[in-house]
Amino acid sequence: MSFAGETVRTLESNGLCRKLQIHSGELLNFSTNDYLNLSSHPLVKRCAIEAVKLFGTGSRGSRLMAGNLSLHEGLEHQLARLTGMETALVFGSGFLTNLGVLTSLAGRNDVIFSDRLNHASLVDGAIASRAEVRRYRHCSVEHLRDLLLSSGNTGRKIIVTDSVFSMDGDVAPLRDIFELSVAEGCLLIVDEAHAIGVFGSGGGVCRGLGICPDVITGTLSKALGGYGGFAACSSEMREYFVNRSRSFVYTTALPPASVGAAMGALEVINSTSGMGSSLLDLAADFRKLLVEKGFDTSGSVSQIVPIVVGESSAALSLSAALEEIGILAVAIRPPTVPAGTARLRFSVTLAHSPDDIIRTADELKRL
Ligand SMILES: Cc1ncc(COP(=O)(O)O)c(C=O)c1O
Repeated sequence: MSFAGETVRTLESNGLCRKLQIHSGELLNFSTNDYLNLSSHPLVKRCAIEAVKLFGTGSRGSRLMAGNLSLHEGLEHQLARLTGMETALVFGSGFLTNLGVLTSLAGRNDVIFSDRLNHASLVDGAIASRAEVRRYRHCSVEHLRDLLLSSGNTGRKIIVTDSVFSMDGDVAPLRDIFELSVAEGCLLIVDEAHAIGVFGSGGGVCRGLGICPDVITGTLSKALGGYGGFAACSSEMREYFVNRSRSFVYTTALPPASVGAAMGALEVINSTSGMGSSLLDLAADFRKLLVEKGFDTSGSVSQIVPIVVGESSAALSLSAALEEIGILAVAIRPPTVPAGTARLRFSVTLAHSPDDIIRTADELKRL
């Protein structure tokens, strides 16, 4: 048997093999990142179509060659306004943004301090940068401080954290991390992928707290309902990325339909007050129901609500039982989450009604 086949068999026997599935559109979907239900919004679709009519299906080249469109710069202007940062730079995806930001800011003489539960794109960006990587305990400012103060590294010091953690739905102690980064002269990078459009009137957790890290990274693929990524930063930093971020320089610019869709999504968010806070209220109601029924929703304070089951097989069985009664909550297993913490990750979205969350909590209790 080939190494590939052997690996897949081992994953299968450990309940860890993932399969691509096409889920029925009929299911009550708690596994989508389309938090504000914008991917099917008429205005967002219309903006994507208009962008294709005006600019075509592809951007025809990298941004530094012939691919830079007025549309990209218009979106960057909007993203800067949303996050309260000076400027923004659009990348091909959130993953490419994190790779490009970390590999350009850190090199082999530098050190990156990274939360243990940071997203895979931050983990890979840190490794690819060749910097020394020190991982601090999840959300522990004390551990981060200890690592910072005991570091003998004389190079650039960079702290990187998610704002809302994708598998736990908790929020990093960003004010304390920000103050520490300023006191210790570190660069601070915050990934707001799950917070944009939801927290801080849509501008993210940092915006809500009134703090300004060196770089905010984000995605257009979750609350904005489309595809693509961005970094929001100072104009000096933007120019640096334009010159130094390999995942920006050596790749084709984001296609017009995605840029148009994101601009449409921002228009909806800006003209509809309280979308993010309505979502957070609905998620709080869901958590309250679950806790009343004896579930532990860990540290979730966001639209992401995990129910940690433990073993992968138990998470798979619960997910399958829910799917049989029309509820989609995909099981999340290692290596996405630490061993022994397999879970169902519920994303509450604006497509859900109060009745949907009551029914789901009731069914979970029954199962
Ligand atoms: C925290 C976080 N950062 C970055 C990404 C990557 O974003 P994208 O899907 O746009 O590549 C994701 C998820 O996909 C994420 O959860």
